[in-house]
Amino acid sequence: MFKTSIRTIGVMTSGGDAPGMNPAIRAVVRTALSNGIRVIGIEDGYEGMLNGRFREMGPRDVGGILQRGGTILRTARSMEFKTPEGQRKAIRQLSSAGIEAVVIIGGDGSLTGGLKLQEQGVPVIGIPGSIDNDIYGTDMCIGVDTALNTIVDAIDKLRDTASSHNRAFLVETMGRDCGYLAVQAGIICGAEMTIIPEYETPFEEVAEAVEDAYKRGKSHCIIVVAEGAKMNANELAAKLQEMNVGFDTRVTVLGHVQRGGKPTAFDRFLATRFGVKAVEFLLSGQTGVMTALTGRDITPLPLATVVNNRRTLSEEYIKMARILAR
Ligand code: ADP
Ligand code: F6P
Ligand code: MG
Repeated sequence: MFKTSIRTIGVMTSGGDAPGMNPAIRAVVRTALSNGIRVIGIEDGYEGMLNGRFREMGPRDVGGILQRGGTILRTARSMEFKTPEGQRKAIRQLSSAGIEAVVIIGGDGSLTGGLKLQEQGVPVIGIPGSIDNDIYGTDMCIGVDTALNTIVDAIDKLRDTASSHNRAFLVETMGRDCGYLAVQAGIICGAEMTIIPEYETPFEEVAEAVEDAYKRGKSHCIIVVAEGAKMNANELAAKLQEMNVGFDTRVTVLGHVQRGGKPTAFDRFLATRFGVKAVEFLLSGQTGVMTALTGRDITPLPLATVVNNRRTLSEEYIKMARILAR
């Protein structure tokens, strides 16, 4: 197998943070060091890259972070990096710091940025990290499982109070334009309805479902609304209240609480496997790829394939959420 001549790599987190980014950083740093490769931490995503915010990472720098949410390297969104000049500036900074390849942990936007670097001669490995689970080609991204567990915990609690007061709750989940978190939560929390961006749900259908639940003597009604859905949770609640559908209605926007917290066992292990594989891919000379979870395996998938395709939701799960919501 071809052995890389790379001596120094950079590692960074970018875009929205996700629980499990720290275990991924730890795995990248320790795997690289054990193979005699120096690691430079790039702070604040692409913003830090183009401003040269670099720091050497030793094995102790990643101690005690396995169980911590967020990212010790911090993260950011950078408008400047989206411009060709911003990218050239970043490449100059990498070159002057002697960074020969970069491991980028982030979402679809961050991986798109990674492809731009790869195309301009910087070897890149991407690791999918985003609670949205909207990245093509990987079954799961780092942070999704933890976010889902936070959502489940919240909805279980909301159901308690909803039942006590005979109320309908509209619960807004994150995910940007992707309904993954909402669909999964709808299934495993037993929601009466799930509304996602991928499908248009007419308001009449929502009102009918709530009224029907009331008439059938349900003590509560939980409707999960993905943040990207056409009609948002507050608008829906106001209209339902106006129509007098039986239940009194309340809205809970789960918001950024979904992005924090200790990574679950699943996320820690996935992030660790991704981090180790990222360095292994580099060592074998494979760059311009993302570590992708496909079934039980982690395989290299070209970044161009990742960013030029759109992930679609499982029809089977959408159907499951509908059928079980009775
Ligand atoms: P995420 O990676 O979580 O999807 P964003 O979409 O905000 O988050 O992307 C993170 C960062 O990646 C952006 O702030 C920008 O610096 C970089 N990025 C996103 N899209 C592009 C692009 N088309 N070209 C270059 N860089 C990009
Ligand atoms: O991509 C992660 C995410 O949390 C999305 O679910 C959400 O739409 C967005 O980031 C929120 O962004 P911000 O952190 O800038 O409020
Ligand atoms: Mg994204």
